[in-house]
Amino acid sequence: MTSKFNSSERDARVMRLCEELMEIEQRLIPTGLHIFGSAGELKEKESVLRMVASFDRPELGARALAGLIADALGIDCYEELLRETPTSETRELVDGIVSEAVERFCEGGAEMAASWLNLAAGVKAEKSLPTFSLLASISKQLDSNNEIESLVRALRGEYIEPGPGADIVQNPLVLPTGRNTHAVNPYSVPSQVAFSRAKLTAEALLRRYMDEHGRYPRALALVLWGLDNIKTQGEGVAQALWLLGVRPVRDALNRVTEIEVIPLEELKRPRIDVVMTVSGIFRDLFAPTMTLLDKAVRRVATLDEPLDLNHVRRNISESMTESAVEFDEAVTRVFSNAPGNYGTNVNFMVMDSQWETEATLGDLFVTRKCFAYTRDSKGRTVEGHEARHLMDDALSRVEATYQNLDSFEVGITDVDHYFEYLGGISKAVETRTKSRPAIYLGDSLSPQTKIRSLRETVRLETRAKTLNPKWYEGMLKHGFRGVAEIENHIANTFGWSATADAVEPWIYTEISKTFVLDPIMFNRLLEMNPHSARSLTNRLLEAHTRGYWNPDEEIVEKLRDIVGHTNDRLEGVGAL
Ligand code: BEZ
Ligand code: MG
Repeated sequence: MTSKFNSSERDARVMRLCEELMEIEQRLIPTGLHIFGSAGELKEKESVLRMVASFDRPELGARALAGLIADALGIDCYEELLRETPTSETRELVDGIVSEAVERFCEGGAEMAASWLNLAAGVKAEKSLPTFSLLASISKQLDSNNEIESLVRALRGEYIEPGPGADIVQNPLVLPTGRNTHAVNPYSVPSQVAFSRAKLTAEALLRRYMDEHGRYPRALALVLWGLDNIKTQGEGVAQALWLLGVRPVRDALNRVTEIEVIPLEELKRPRIDVVMTVSGIFRDLFAPTMTLLDKAVRRVATLDEPLDLNHVRRNISESMTESAVEFDEAVTRVFSNAPGNYGTNVNFMVMDSQWETEATLGDLFVTRKCFAYTRDSKGRTVEGHEARHLMDDALSRVEATYQNLDSFEVGITDVDHYFEYLGGISKAVETRTKSRPAIYLGDSLSPQTKIRSLRETVRLETRAKTLNPKWYEGMLKHGFRGVAEIENHIANTFGWSATADAVEPWIYTEISKTFVLDPIMFNRLLEMNPHSARSLTNRLLEAHTRGYWNPDEEIVEKLRDIVGHTNDRLEGVGAL
């Protein structure tokens, strides 16, 4: 058989395929729900510990195991090597040793793992012991669980010890669970580490846009959430500052209240305009940070720089001439809900199928989020003044939208909040610019910064979770709730069709085959949770009727029959 590719094209394709497979394999895949009050299982613990051991933690004197192994084996510049060729044999070698070291640690403890690593890779025990000691303390805390005891103490009105709120891999000090989660001091945000990481992520984002469009975007819309800025000490905030071309400055009390402009010669690119929609939680937690962001945009807008190197200034002067608004209005870039309100409601509209045209979803987003947090012409603080025309105007210049993923456990199809925010704003931009923006997500999870398009992320999540037997069998162990989680994933996937047309049709086909058209599987779902079994089948039909998926008529008929039978069954037990 002759191939339509020549051999180097074929090699490049095989390599890309291999990289994609590795990426799925390397994801940490949650294998079930957390059960309040109980400790996790051994296999799960091993995966978490391997992830924990993949980060350098200078504050704890512990290095990443992979780095220690690479050093001992004399592999130069391991980090750069990973960035350039994620699928090399070297990586396989190092990963293999890391996995075995963690496995041995779980079997025999820190000392044994350290001496094994010395024999296997020549890593001196005194170098690896701080890392294994960290794993030992995490492992002990994962084996115990005080959640029920703490809940009972809370119900008695007794004192609950505080603990930081974060992702376990990013900050193992979140353990033990069952404590009173505290957030951050908003004046400490962004931290220096967050700013350094943000530079890498924001530059990778611009590089990706540049590769696809041949130029920088004039304006980006960013979604900022409270919890992920707590977890990352403000990486999202720092990305916005870096895109604008400013850095945070601390005052005499070590509070981040000022910014400093980075000269264009140092920045080596134009300043990018950023439209920030912040969640209600962010607004409540980070008032001084919102002031900082507003200040940064104002400062950049008044810099005496060429318009093609300062998109903020260019966009604002265009608004002032085209929309006849004053500078103080045109410069508004920080938007959120009205005071006391939360969320976009786009998720509820999608879940309840209460929409006719997709544009309604973007409009709802703007209706909920068009409250300006800024200053007026007299310098007085404006907190949540309705400014729909200003948000419409700012969005009408946006060319790309972006949000960070900040947790190993919660991805874009696990909850409806990612599509209500990133999907909602992307649809709002699309209807205002008459063109779909480039939509990206950043992975602030791994030591290597990674930018993916929304479509890539949907594919990755679908393969790593929804269609992965390891994930769905883990869910099915939870019976009723597990089936509801599978249904949620399918509905959230659908949310990405409705808001951004980001779901390739094969995804719906495979979901149908896996969960509905396989009679054994469907019966399992039906036994455990007939309501969710019916809803997920209806959602697949909705994907078809709304034009996101066009399977053979035979499949559609089968799905309809199945809904019919399920209705009969539910009516039979009086559950409708
Ligand atoms: C937040 O952290 O701001 C957030 C969390 C969940 C949904 C929406 C926002
Ligand atoms: Mg929720």
